Amino acid sequence: MSRKPIIAGNWKMNKNVQEAMAFVEEVKDQLPSTDKVDAVIGASPLLLNGVKFASADSNLKVAAQNCYFEDAGAFTGETSPKVLADMGMDYVIIGHSERREYFHETDEDINKKAHAIFRNNMTPIICCGESLETYEAGKAVEFVGAQVSAALKDLSAEQVASLVIAYEPIWAIGTGKSATSEDAENMCKAVRDVVVADFGQEVADKVRVQYGGSVNPSNIAEYMACPDVDGALVGGASLEPASFLALLNF
Ligand code: 13P
Repeated sequence: MSRKPIIAGNWKMNKNVQEAMAFVEEVKDQLPSTDKVDAVIGASPLLLNGVKFASADSNLKVAAQNCYFEDAGAFTGETSPKVLADMGMDYVIIGHSERREYFHETDEDINKKAHAIFRNNMTPIICCGESLETYEAGKAVEFVGAQVSAALKDLSAEQVASLVIAYEPIWAIGTGKSATSEDAENMCKAVRDVVVADFGQEVADKVRVQYGGSVNPSNIAEYMACPDVDGALVGGASLEPASFLALLNF
């Protein structure tokens, strides 16, 4: 089963407008063909309009890093998925461990956000991943499986086949301590097995599963060689143009 690789940079709350524009100017004409890989940048909502305009007519796809699950209303400070769609966003990252941990997002919120993103014709990148404590207790598969199942609840088979799941063990995020490619493969396979159980083999063969956590240009090839790893979600190493381009050319 061949799935198109998807390499996404998650800038988190980094870069100002000028820095974001300079990055896009530098990479936009050097991106690999969209037949080969989906190249995505996930930027803060303050930068999305600029990134989208600056990358128009290039192979760069743009992701928001979060959204709310309602389209509009009295929700001060929230980001509307409807407006993100209006702005031409392709993807929305949801359920990042930083959002779960610091902003108390629950599995139920993340499921509602997934529905809202599809309702607005964008594609969710749904993050999952266990803490060091859960990993060391040997409960990662069970924990991540429950996160994935909850996030996908009541989505259609067609929706699930089109979305992206990012497995990001919390202990590997920003620590320089990446998972072994064997661990990454086993966990991405476990994520796919949950999709098999909930939606069937045909859907699971199509869904793309990324590994994230201290991925960089020197280790990405190892992950991309794993049969169940279809891409990477990259924080720190996506911030510099040369590094982002090197990741795309794994
Ligand atoms: P790092 O690549 O900086 O470890 O971050 C991973 C991550 O959280 C991407 O969403």
